[in-house]
Amino acid sequence: MAHVRLWNITKKYGDVTAVNRLNIEIEQGECFSMLGPSGCGKTTTLRMVAGFEDIDEGEISVGQKVFSSSAKKFYLPPEKRDFGMVFQAFAVWPHMNVFNNVAFPLQIRKMPKSEVLERTQRAIKYTGLGGCENTFPNELSGGQKQRIALARAIAINPTVMLLDEPLSNLDPKLREEMRFEIKDLQRKFGFTIIYVTHDQTEAMALSHRILVMDHGVVQQIDTPINIYKNPANKFVFSFIGLSNFLPVEIHDGAIYIEGAAESGPITRLIPPEIREKKMTLAIRPAEIDFVTDGGVCGMVRKMTYLGDVIDYRVMLGSVEVRVQKSRRKGIYREGEACMLKFNRFLWYGRES
Ligand SMILES: Nc1ncnc2c1ncn2[C@@H]1O[C@H](COP(=O)(O)OP(=O)(O)O)[C@@H](O)[C@H]1O
Ligand SMILES: [Mg+2]
Repeated sequence: MAHVRLWNITKKYGDVTAVNRLNIEIEQGECFSMLGPSGCGKTTTLRMVAGFEDIDEGEISVGQKVFSSSAKKFYLPPEKRDFGMVFQAFAVWPHMNVFNNVAFPLQIRKMPKSEVLERTQRAIKYTGLGGCENTFPNELSGGQKQRIALARAIAINPTVMLLDEPLSNLDPKLREEMRFEIKDLQRKFGFTIIYVTHDQTEAMALSHRILVMDHGVVQQIDTPINIYKNPANKFVFSFIGLSNFLPVEIHDGAIYIEGAAESGPITRLIPPEIREKKMTLAIRPAEIDFVTDGGVCGMVRKMTYLGDVIDYRVMLGSVEVRVQKSRRKGIYREGEACMLKFNRFLWYGRES
């Protein structure tokens, strides 16, 4: 049985439907990410799970217990939900040292002193804050402040951890490190994670499954690899990784870049699902190779070094294609004629 279940959740603010008929089932111990552009409804969803927002329609349950239900007019307040929570802003109490920041939620629960001590020390140790017990937050870096928030969330022994862009205010290197630490903590403590981010690499690195959302509506729920390899639609394709969307047309038994038949066909294998004459071909820049024969003819308009990878803009007729290749595969210069082979691509209708 699912651990956290959101059934048909809708939330409106005036005319804005922030979340529209959302259905999610999250397993015990799963790291489940909600990914999408700013304003797509991620935070609203998380706040409804946490109990900071009531729901307009639907039901949220954890285990066997209903937490919010529009039909039953039932709503459990946040402090009774016992979730661990970490937000983007470093929510630490400046007048308390690290130990007290972590211990405070336990103390207000009137837990025995020995247990407060044991849980606080354990959470401090596992978040790498050992030795900082007496330090005050203003003496700590952003990364360490976020560790306090993590330690505080862990100390209450939550079964579910809600994380809303917890790493967004950290610099890239630290962000990457902390991703691994969050995964490690999950392994040690076994909680379920609901993780909100607009950063696709973060979602990819952390999650068992990812939900991609746009305008409050689910676009796809799948494993990271499937989200990347088999995006359900153009939105998901473009949101995850780099993409080319190329206008193509079918004639004389082959598929050509629109208006560039003289460059040669992309393929003569026309998949059975293609019924229209004009389609959009979606391909990632890394899935295109430079070849010496049998490809589509083009010309390199621009090349940029991105470290080990070179980013090319290649013109096929009047259509620009982005190609990324390791520099070990040889270097093409700006203005040079070239030939491209399209490896793994998908088709979408012009309107989808
Ligand atoms: N308290 C609120 N009052 C009015 N509109 C809100 C409120 N909170 C969120 N919204 C709107 O709901 C939509 C989703 O917002 P949010 O859940 O914060 O998105 P995300 O976290 O994905 O960036 C946005 O259009 C936002 O403007
Ligand atoms: Mg948000």
